[in-house]
Amino acid sequence: MEMSTKSLRAYVETYGCQMNISDGELMEGVLESHGYRIVDRPEDADVVIVNTCAIREHAEQRVLGRVSQLNGLKLERPELVIGVTGCMAQRMGDDLLERAPYIDLVMGPDGYRELPSHLQRLRAGGGLQGEEEGVRPVGKVPLQSGPVSKTGKRRIQLSVLDLDPRENYEGLEQRRRSGVAAWIPIQRGCDHRCTYCIVPYVRGPEKNRKPDEVLREVEEVVRSGISEVTLLGQTVNSYVHDDWAFPRLLRAVARVPGIRRVRFTSPHPNDVTPELVEVMAEEPAVCEQLHLPAQSGNDRTLKRMVRRYTVATFLEKVAMVRSAIPDISLSTDIIVGFPGETDSEFRDTLDLMRTVRFDDAFTYKYSLRDGTPATRLPESDFVELNVAQARLEELIEVSRGIQAEINESEIGRVDEVLVEREARDPGQMLGRTRRNKVVAFPGSPEIVGSYVPVELTATTGATFRGEKVAIPATVGRV
Ligand code: 5AD
Ligand code: SF4
Repeated sequence: MEMSTKSLRAYVETYGCQMNISDGELMEGVLESHGYRIVDRPEDADVVIVNTCAIREHAEQRVLGRVSQLNGLKLERPELVIGVTGCMAQRMGDDLLERAPYIDLVMGPDGYRELPSHLQRLRAGGGLQGEEEGVRPVGKVPLQSGPVSKTGKRRIQLSVLDLDPRENYEGLEQRRRSGVAAWIPIQRGCDHRCTYCIVPYVRGPEKNRKPDEVLREVEEVVRSGISEVTLLGQTVNSYVHDDWAFPRLLRAVARVPGIRRVRFTSPHPNDVTPELVEVMAEEPAVCEQLHLPAQSGNDRTLKRMVRRYTVATFLEKVAMVRSAIPDISLSTDIIVGFPGETDSEFRDTLDLMRTVRFDDAFTYKYSLRDGTPATRLPESDFVELNVAQARLEELIEVSRGIQAEINESEIGRVDEVLVEREARDPGQMLGRTRRNKVVAFPGSPEIVGSYVPVELTATTGATFRGEKVAIPATVGRV
């Protein structure tokens, strides 16, 4: 049955990391190019896509709550199609359809190219007007018969869960929502096997895009008026395509005419090489900012996480980066309560924080993910929840204290701020410095997208208040 999708409206709601946000933009682009109109509220949509994250259990609980809420809309409008995509869809697969039978589609991260055709199949075969006749599963997509609708006609559910070791979405247009800065995915999947992490199992092996495609996309972004890009990948700096390793690509992106700021995330510490640091130091467009996930400050824990570095080598990387780019702002990810982590090993992590003094830290309690190697560690090793919680709180206190001290010492600097949007406070605009610090300062919405020299005048600890100044921004203290 041929059905027009011309008038259909789609709403995409994304959870999780920047990679997922970028995938949400990709799905919107795919849907738009198939005639869908993208809307901002599920109430206005014919198709609701919940694009999910599986990194920790908490993320999944949130999504389950949200889809059951969306089922409220479906009770009013049974023809509403609800799709769940992304890492959690991949991880839970058909279980999700069983647990939440009102979901019509589960689709893993490699299925988005075919999203419109699967949606069309669902609409043709499901909903109220649906006939199952003429609707057949294609390729490897299993067709399941779903619950019976109110009218007695059967609804179908689809699951699209094959991981494709080649899919990197070459040739598809993203619908950019990010405003003044753009995310450019250059890599999908991950070849590491950190023992706590679900990513390699739900996103498959590392796949790198062709450098000329990446550069073409950056040029297009510049043509659309955007001058800040962030290159994205699960271990972005392990990117390699023929004789293009990451430092070469970074340099080429930084030299695209019209590009003013380049960031990249998330790098793996092991691939922070002298070549990369050289490019970061030499290319004026590459921002003085690096996210360097440490995960732990204890060698035994790092070993059991299979991070493949020691505290000493991690510190060497930090020293190398800082000696080449003294002004660099560093952030990190830390997990507490990894199975077997003793109190003194946790104290080593606190020591690492105090030694490095990160500008920002994203801190997590270990969350057991079925199917990951860490689940096979002896059960007696698992850290009690209240112990892990206490460690997390202590770590947050230490890292926030350090962050506040660093930021207080930066009051008086004049930094160039790229203005992103209005702040919640009336009359205030929000933007970011090259070092990725968030600054609120008086201004009006016309300046969104422009670069403004701002003096940092106060800090809340994590973010800054500032005032526009007449003199051009310099990097560093004035
Ligand atoms: N439990 C807790 N935190 C995790 N992360 C990844 N997997 C887990 C897990 N099972 C954290 C890591 C990673 C960040 C994106 O999420 O710190 O760098
Ligand atoms: Fe997960 Fe490790 Fe790959 Fe990062 S490098 S996505 S933490 S397995």
